[in-house]
Amino acid sequence: MSRVLTGIQSSGKPHLGNLLGAILPAIELADAQAEPAFLFIADLHALTTIRDPAVLRENTYAVAATWLAAGLNPKRHVFFRQSDVPEVCELAWYLGCLTPYPMLANAHSFKEKSANLAEVSAGLFTYPVLMAADILLYQTELVPVGKDQKQHLEITRDIAGAFNRIYGELFTLPEPIFREEVMVLPGIDGRKMSKSYGNTLDPLGDLNELYKRVKRIVTDSTPIDQPKNPDTCTVFKLYSVVAPPAAVEEMRQRYLAGGYGYGQAKEALYEALRERFAPQREAYQQWISDKEALEAILRGGAERARSEAQKTLQKVREALGLRSAVASGFRV
Ligand code: TYM
Repeated sequence: MSRVLTGIQSSGKPHLGNLLGAILPAIELADAQAEPAFLFIADLHALTTIRDPAVLRENTYAVAATWLAAGLNPKRHVFFRQSDVPEVCELAWYLGCLTPYPMLANAHSFKEKSANLAEVSAGLFTYPVLMAADILLYQTELVPVGKDQKQHLEITRDIAGAFNRIYGELFTLPEPIFREEVMVLPGIDGRKMSKSYGNTLDPLGDLNELYKRVKRIVTDSTPIDQPKNPDTCTVFKLYSVVAPPAAVEEMRQRYLAGGYGYGQAKEALYEALRERFAPQREAYQQWISDKEALEAILRGGAERARSEAQKTLQKVREALGLRSAVASGFRV
């Protein structure tokens, strides 16, 4: 029995990589535990990229509707919006005071993101500290994430270790859980599927749009009659995580045999996406058209999350020397 937590940024509507790399495995792992999991929408993290309030609000609902359509049970698990738990910002400050500057400056995701921006904000720089606060605030044991978050989890463990060494064993050290077969899912241009690259597939959205984007997946120019390498092909990689194993094996043989074109493989991929996500696509439409229901669920989740967050924060303040044990009536 372990406490599971994970978050998805509301920097856009979740894509296939988010669904297969994080949302679906997180729900599976959460449901396998006896205790409720903490699953949230990282809207504070999204502020590092989104400057339009209407867009942020819409994205937040889109992420909420995706989690619910994917099967999250909000009665059993604590499902909330990060910004509804302001305690996380307080903890992030404390943790930031223990975080070595070079650890953040050398983080891959910071280097990669800042290299593509004209202006680099302090928020982008301290992004991993807020993420550590998300995880440590709830004494999380397991964090299901995609491989791209590996370093953020290492940073979280380093910060928690530093805190525990100085102030006593207060934080649980979290373990990342990666789903081996998904790895980092490629987008339609072959790079990591990412909202910031504009190369995503949205299996819960409009089917015409999905079809058009599948058709745009970049492939090499091997002629139809020639054998093709399935292991270097983005269409095949995507098909292999969406279609049933027997169908994947069949496509692999077709690639190797030759006489099978990328156009045909793309048709098969589109069909597999359409079929596999049909129930979730319908559920998504229902949730996204009922914002009041989404708000009510998120508010209920925030209440449960806050009461847990406050317990940890009280211990942290005490440990740091910020508040007297006698005055707060709290004993460490
Ligand atoms: P975000 O919003 O970028 O991505 C959410 C989750 O989706 C996974 N993911 C992928 N998996 C496979 N292939 C891909 N192409 C792909 N793209 C994204 C990510 O690994 C992630 O698991 N920093 C986090 C959000 C966050 C968080 C947290 C996560 C904030 N606080 C605390 C866990 C715990 C992020 O940017 O995720």
